[in-house]
Amino acid sequence: MQSLPLPENPNFSSGPCSKRPGYALSELRTDILGRSHRSSLGKEVLESACTKTAELLGLPEGYRVGIVPASDTGAVEMAMWSLLGQRGVDVMAWESFGSGWVTDITKQLKLDDVRVMEADYGTLPVLADVDFTRDVVFTWNGTTSGVKVPNGDWIPDDREGLTICDATSAVFAMDLPWEKLDVVTYSWQKVLGGEGAHGMLILSPRAVERLESYTPPWPLPKIFRLTKGGKLIEGVFKGATINTPSMLCVVDYLDALQWVESIGGVSATIARSNESLAHIAEFVANNEWVHFLAEEEETISNTSVCLTLDTSPENVKKMVKLLESEGAAYDIGAYRDAPPGIRIWCGATVAPSDVQRLLPWLAWAFEQVAGN
Ligand SMILES: Cc1ncc(COP(=O)(O)O)c(C=O)c1O
Repeated sequence: MQSLPLPENPNFSSGPCSKRPGYALSELRTDILGRSHRSSLGKEVLESACTKTAELLGLPEGYRVGIVPASDTGAVEMAMWSLLGQRGVDVMAWESFGSGWVTDITKQLKLDDVRVMEADYGTLPVLADVDFTRDVVFTWNGTTSGVKVPNGDWIPDDREGLTICDATSAVFAMDLPWEKLDVVTYSWQKVLGGEGAHGMLILSPRAVERLESYTPPWPLPKIFRLTKGGKLIEGVFKGATINTPSMLCVVDYLDALQWVESIGGVSATIARSNESLAHIAEFVANNEWVHFLAEEEETISNTSVCLTLDTSPENVKKMVKLLESEGAAYDIGAYRDAPPGIRIWCGATVAPSDVQRLLPWLAWAFEQVAGN
């Protein structure tokens, strides 16, 4: 297939995601490596990761940004174990990661007043059924089904409970209504193409108020503790991390933030992602054998784009292998728990022109494997 141009970068994995265009390990600053994260330089670097994040995301006054252990999972668990239990909880799930939060709320935290609102792969639960007198836990973008919530219009400004949102494959790629979100978590390894290991925890003033006025009845390991003597540990949100972070991951994150700034900020990263999705949408419209897994257009993810194909799961696997062996696309098989299909990451670090180049390869691979 020499006649088809290959994507310049065939990395379309949904996590860890592609590094930014032009990324070079040798460009990362190294002065902090081998130094204490508690040195003034260490704290300065860590704090700058928090302040730069708040600045680029345009967080409202009073919102705090902290770096916490264990990637997005760590940040979500920390929030749930620290905040839940004061009132009833509505938890929504429409794919595997959301289902994981349901399991933890019902089987690990064992909260008794829980309403689980689930939907099949491809769809969303009925957002209008959510009761905002309760705490609400949900995923902004279901990475394994490619279904996102369309916007935040369904979240009232005068809610009584807290909204706790796992937004790991949405932050820096989708327009998030910060005032409607009390806890937002994400990891560096997604839209920014950073490294795993650390999670970002964003708290609204209402979330802080809950932390300072409510103590959960269960024990909290040190790694989850956000308060001391009933007060928020402000240091966590100023670069004094709970335990030792990888400073190499931190400088890698700073490099990603600098790239975001250099291309024009979050509106530019969102635009890149939308442009990639538009290429795929055109391809889907022109090829009757490929479909979005998301059933409603307004819920189609612009980061984790999940497609189903009119062929057997075995053929899909063969296509994925073939594309890998041709150097056209790596890691585009659907998530292990999701319906068979392919998933093309379209976060900002992926060049829309590479998505464009991938699509004819997809048609070629389908023809090779399933055409006759
Ligand atoms: C929606 C969602 N939540 C949580 C996670 C887990 O993230 P991490 O492995 O960074 O903890 C992922 C990873 O793909 C995800 O997509």
